[in-house]
Amino acid sequence: MRFEGRCAVVTGGGGGFGKAFGSALAAEGCNVVLADVNQELLAKNEAEINQAGGGKALAVLCDVTSGEAVQAMAAKAVESFGSLDILINNAGGSMGVPRDTIDQVKEEDWDKVVSLNLKGTFLCTKAAAGYMKQAGYGKIVNLSSITARMGGQLTPVQYVSAKGAIISFTRHVAQELGPFGINVNAVAPGIVLTGERLEKMWYGRKSDEERQAYVSQVPLRRLGSPQEISDAVLYLCSDQAGIITGVTLDINGGMFSA
Ligand SMILES: NC(=O)c1ccc[n+]([C@@H]2O[C@H](COP(=O)([O-])OP(=O)(O)OC[C@H]3O[C@@H](n4cnc5c(N)ncnc54)[C@H](O)[C@@H]3O)[C@@H](O)[C@H]2O)c1
Repeated sequence: MRFEGRCAVVTGGGGGFGKAFGSALAAEGCNVVLADVNQELLAKNEAEINQAGGGKALAVLCDVTSGEAVQAMAAKAVESFGSLDILINNAGGSMGVPRDTIDQVKEEDWDKVVSLNLKGTFLCTKAAAGYMKQAGYGKIVNLSSITARMGGQLTPVQYVSAKGAIISFTRHVAQELGPFGINVNAVAPGIVLTGERLEKMWYGRKSDEERQAYVSQVPLRRLGSPQEISDAVLYLCSDQAGIITGVTLDINGGMFSA
């Protein structure tokens, strides 16, 4: 029970990783605020986590690209559970924008993908940092991606760029918040089949041969599972990782290692 009585905010809490992180934290006694724009997915994950017992889950409808909504969500977390100890900046994705060549990328697609992934991470970190600084304690984990390391074999440039910027953001904020007892790290997963969106991308956009070719580039010869990413994220949220800050942990079966 590494997180008994703590409060974690998991953005994108209605999604695949959101469910995995929220469930794993709650199983170790952590109260979890699931923040997402999708009411239906939120309600499903909230109910499943609460049924499992352990820490409580609370769904909060929140668009991470709105500073006002994010401030209100963070205040709700503190009002409900008494503190905001852990933030997992997980809301993100490529939002279905096409993987255009750079001369064809639409400005509005750039703005929306960068806003969700990068501005969302900034706004949630900003909102949580105030509470964490006051408490002299905090753990922040940001979701980058293997695409930030290698370029996007499957993903568009907007997504690759935002996930790359998250690595620099993580390093900078770790330096700034370290003196306040706050650890800030990132994880960069390879492809993980977290649910429908990823399955569509993996099975819908790639032939059997392309999928095999991809996996053959992975030294461990398989994709990671949501559980394996969750194990690493929870480690970074735990006091066992107390001396680790500013790093981006590559979790991809060895396809890329920094
Ligand atoms: N699954 C992978 O292969 C993989 C690999 C590397 C990184 N990641 C990153 O992990 C994170 C989660 O991915 P996932 O696979 O669980 O995807 P997912 O689509 O299942 O979850 C993303 C969630 O974010 C929510 N969301 C979208 N816009 C939002 C907004 N404005 N405010 C709040 N929530 C919003 C969605 O409703 C969804 O529930 C993302 O940041 C993604 O880029 C995923």
